[in-house]
Amino acid sequence: MQQVNPDEFVITRKRKKYKFALFANSPLCFELGEWKKRPVDTIELGAGTALFSVELATRHPGKTFVAIDVKGDRLQKGAREAQERQLQNIWFVRARADQLDQVVPDRSLSSLWLTFPDPFPRERSERRRMTHPYFLQQYQKLLRSDGALYLKHDNRTFFDWSVEQLRNEKWNVVELSHDLHESDLSEDCKIMTTYEQRWLGEGLATHFVRAELAG
Ligand SMILES: C[S@@+](CC[C@H](N)C(=O)[O-])C[C@H]1O[C@@H](n2cnc3c(N)ncnc32)[C@H](O)[C@@H]1O
Repeated sequence: MQQVNPDEFVITRKRKKYKFALFANSPLCFELGEWKKRPVDTIELGAGTALFSVELATRHPGKTFVAIDVKGDRLQKGAREAQERQLQNIWFVRARADQLDQVVPDRSLSSLWLTFPDPFPRERSERRRMTHPYFLQQYQKLLRSDGALYLKHDNRTFFDWSVEQLRNEKWNVVELSHDLHESDLSEDCKIMTTYEQRWLGEGLATHFVRAELAG
């Protein structure tokens, strides 16, 4: 049996408690049960540190933003940055993708961003992909009729599969690029996420799609 060093165990527990406290004490961070469902303009799902949303919120003070992730310790990094920038238009909610309908009312959302969602490459994990038809149908209910879904990804196989699901579910693909940062698409789309910054330096390209609800 593997030996556990009791000192390491204590440090890990303390660290977890510390990270949990940072999230719990941030006025911008909410557990799902604390969040009052309300309309917002933009959601970033699987946001991680949500620094992408923080930058969008900085550029668009007249719009409201919510960043969602299951990991509170990642979200609180974005919340700290938002506080430093004194932003009043962004919040951070710890929730799962399938709980999105508890965050915003139906037909109220203008933009939904999926930034580098986990690709779950095994076929038997397909249902967990955030672009699975099950999720696309949920997003469809929450978006306004003129709303849009945005996806950025590094994995071509996952990206192509996602575009195929969008088309099968009758979304209109209105913008698509296999090299976002070399394209003439909007500067907002090119704001880099934490994950994107990490590997883009290695010469990899970002795939991007914007899809709207069919008429
Ligand atoms: C590859 S990371 C990308 C993080 C961030 N978007 C970025 O680009 O830096 C995927 C993120 O999705 C989150 N995630 C995975 N499954 C989720 C789910 N079902 N609901 C909400 N978040 C989820 C993970 O916790 C992780 O932070």
